[in-house]
Amino acid sequence: MAEVRLAVVGAGVVGKRHIETIRSTASAELVAIVDPFPGAETTADEAGVPYYVDVRAMLRDSKPDGVIVATPTEHHLASCLAALESGAHVLVEKPISATLSEAEAIVAKSEQTGRHVLVGHHRRYYPQVHRAREIVRQGHLGRLVAVSGQWGLRKHEGYYEPDWRKRRAAGPVLTNLIHDMDCLRFICGEVTSISAETANNVRSAEKEDAAALIMSFENGALGSFVLSDQTCSPWAWEFATGENPAFPKTGRNVLRFMGTDASLEFPNLVVWRHDDGAGDWTTDIKPHPEALELGDAFERQIEHFCSVVHGEQVPQVTALDATRTLRATLAVFEAADSKQRVRL
Ligand SMILES: NC(=O)c1ccc[n+]([C@@H]2O[C@H](COP(=O)([O-])OP(=O)(O)OC[C@H]3O[C@@H](n4cnc5c(N)ncnc54)[C@H](O)[C@@H]3O)[C@@H](O)[C@H]2O)c1
Repeated sequence: MAEVRLAVVGAGVVGKRHIETIRSTASAELVAIVDPFPGAETTADEAGVPYYVDVRAMLRDSKPDGVIVATPTEHHLASCLAALESGAHVLVEKPISATLSEAEAIVAKSEQTGRHVLVGHHRRYYPQVHRAREIVRQGHLGRLVAVSGQWGLRKHEGYYEPDWRKRRAAGPVLTNLIHDMDCLRFICGEVTSISAETANNVRSAEKEDAAALIMSFENGALGSFVLSDQTCSPWAWEFATGENPAFPKTGRNVLRFMGTDASLEFPNLVVWRHDDGAGDWTTDIKPHPEALELGDAFERQIEHFCSVVHGEQVPQVTALDATRTLRATLAVFEAADSKQRVRL
């Protein structure tokens, strides 16, 4: 089968990861890079592909089969619309967009053009996430009653230099919590309500430094989650999995799913059960770990995107699905600002 011709729009931190992944994936070929930042020309030279500052000029000249949109979130919409209108399929980084109306515009354009949109919730390509969904949804824990999670780390100072990273659209709720929100929806089912508080006492920027939320799920389970990008802690997905070689690995679990018969620690997949099955607090309780290879989610995501472009598969994370994840995540701000419980 012919290689899928892919262009990358936005050659920053995550764009470069896509560029490397495409270059090492047999089914894909990198055909162009778009990024107005002059340093990106070097990235294009190194990759041996044409460099553009304007997405429409690139679409006209290179006619890619697929476009990866990895610009700052607030610019996702314009590049997605241009790519879909040109007839290309799109892999857009998460969050699909900064606002719900923009997400809806992407969904509508995808339907109108008949081109697919895959959203880069890359954790969906880890076997641990699928196994956790199976454990919860097939009733291995009995009835799911409660979920708790945390995400805490301290990002380096240089991270906050660009102005866009000081804004809410780039804060830890929309940048990081959205990953956990997507996992929680995928594993437990839809979130039906959210109450939350946010704080920005450390950096005093528009973006939040911390958030705490309480949620309910469609199956009746309750959940709580705290997060901060200003804390030194070992409890964050990136540290738990070691998925990104730039960050240390602690292997500490970050989510706990608690059921009437057993509980699950995640992502290490440890099920805790009483010796006599669904016992009570008078009987011994032991861990039952399961070992699964993590693998490279970005590699699997690109391979999946190539299959989507070839028409062999439909997107694992559609624009509509990602819009629901965005809706639940934006509800954190709505709940915190209004001091009201938000029903979804
Ligand atoms: N899946 C993940 O794990 C993951 C990780 C990091 C970031 N992201 C997402 O990826 C996106 C980019 O984040 P980042 O950390 O790579 O940002 P970044 O600032 O490192 O890179 C963004 C790049 O886009 C370029 N750019 C700006 N406007 C542009 C435009 N109109 N057209 C083309 N290029 C443009 C910038 O010059 C910059 O090089 C965000 O939406 C973020 O939420 C996802």
